[in-house]
Amino acid sequence: MSHPVPSAVQRSTMRALTIALAVFLMSGCAEEVELGGASGFPPGLPGTPVAADLGVPGDAASALVRLGEALFFDPALSGNGNIACATCHVTFLATAEGLPLSLGQGAEGLGPFRRRAEGAILPRHTQDLFERAGGRRFFWDGRVEALPGGVLRAPTPIPAGLVDPLALASILPLLDREEMRGQPGERGALGPNELGELDDGEPLAIWDAVVARLAAFPDYGALAAETLRPFDPALLGDALAAFITDRWEGRPTRRDVGDMSDAAQRGETLFFGRAGCDRCHGGPLLSDDGFHNIGVPPLGPGFEGAVDEGRLRVSGDPADRFAFKTPPLRNVRLTPPYMHNGAYATLEGAVRHHLDPSAAFAAYDASQLPPTLAATVRFDLREAVLGALDPALTSPVSLTDADIADLLAFLGRLDTLLELEKPPNVDTPPSVPSGLPVPRWPQAQPHPFR
Ligand code: HEC
Ligand code: HEC
Repeated sequence: MSHPVPSAVQRSTMRALTIALAVFLMSGCAEEVELGGASGFPPGLPGTPVAADLGVPGDAASALVRLGEALFFDPALSGNGNIACATCHVTFLATAEGLPLSLGQGAEGLGPFRRRAEGAILPRHTQDLFERAGGRRFFWDGRVEALPGGVLRAPTPIPAGLVDPLALASILPLLDREEMRGQPGERGALGPNELGELDDGEPLAIWDAVVARLAAFPDYGALAAETLRPFDPALLGDALAAFITDRWEGRPTRRDVGDMSDAAQRGETLFFGRAGCDRCHGGPLLSDDGFHNIGVPPLGPGFEGAVDEGRLRVSGDPADRFAFKTPPLRNVRLTPPYMHNGAYATLEGAVRHHLDPSAAFAAYDASQLPPTLAATVRFDLREAVLGALDPALTSPVSLTDADIADLLAFLGRLDTLLELEKPPNVDTPPSVPSGLPVPRWPQAQPHPFR
């Protein structure tokens, strides 16, 4: 059994309610609301229960969320017990990472402080996890995808009972050796890495082994039992998806509550008008869920030594070469660097790139990357990348510096209220069932991007 994705109506009702709450909090009535702690961060905002939306009895649904929360923060899901989902999807950084390319298991620290003593540089930039419930295509290349008719497509067999693409996307990182699983013969925080011993071609066996490992911790057994479901890989995925949905879905932005400056309003008019951004960044999340080659310079290790060709890897269609998924723009100001490979350190750089991708590629400044990555920029692929540029971007858009400032002001209003005042670690559980250390933001370090 698996929970159905909440219907569009349920989701929009939930969003309307959350927006109403946020308007209330921001309006003159704010003094009457009891705010938690010295920070004034309202305790009710993170983790508002959405049990009714999950289509399962209330207690079991909130048990699913509780299990998902434990899993999300627990390094025991990784082969060597050294990396959790929350290590890369840093909750204090709006679930993004603040690094151009993610660093896999073996690196140490969090976000911009993460350093690679051992372990790999991963091929892609970490995506954020806001507003992902009900999504059809996951990852920069859409390799997990719900096809019309609800059939799931993925590069792996699909565990029995798993139907939600977000749930499948949530357990895919467990398979990747460099991301979480580790290598044969390693010894980690939980002893010998039995997950690393398993064959790459046996994903179902790997997921079963993760479940077996977790089930040995009594608290996981208890949390799983409360969901009234068997402890299996589908439960892992559904619990993670339920937690991601509960915590980061239906979160209003400053724009949603009408907190717009004149510049932001002019920027909004440009975005949906003359600048033509909404040709791809349309719809409620400002993404068409489509794949486009917008001419970003390739960089990083790529896949098996070959350059990252994006959607082509999934579809096999040459027209998809260097096409990546249009990112939704929620919290975009707070989640640098930008693009599938973090090529742009600033939001202004990312926006300006679109105006004339050909000129931007030619003038690309690799010094905005850390030196190890700067050396990997594939300037030699300029013709190949630009030759396949999305037709929507082949004629340069002419915008003044004032127009760009307005667009940036607009994009800055896509910050969710949840993220603006959040103190470090406010939403991080003190401990997880395995007893391993939970990834925590260094309390003394201020937010690097707020
Ligand atoms: C080593 C860092 C790292 C870890 C650990 C990690 N992720 Fe990610 N996550 C990424 C990166 C990088 C991407 C983009 C990958 C790509 O497109 O190929 C991503 C993408 C995703 C996506 C797809 C988002 C979208 O909109 O398409 C989901 C969902 C996700 N991660 C959930 C999780 C969960 C759940 C865990 C823990 C089981 C986890 N991640 C562990 C780095 C990480
Ligand atoms: C042809 C479709 C298309 C159009 C038109 C378009 N974008 Fe994009 N945008 C994309 C795609 C695809 C990416 C990711 C590309 C990549 O990573 O290779 C992206 C990335 C971005 C990013 C980086 C977000 C992140 O999280 O990394 C920003 C910001 C952005 N676009 C803003 C804009 C603005 C502002 C406009 C209008 C001036 C615009 N886009 C027009 C398709 C488009």
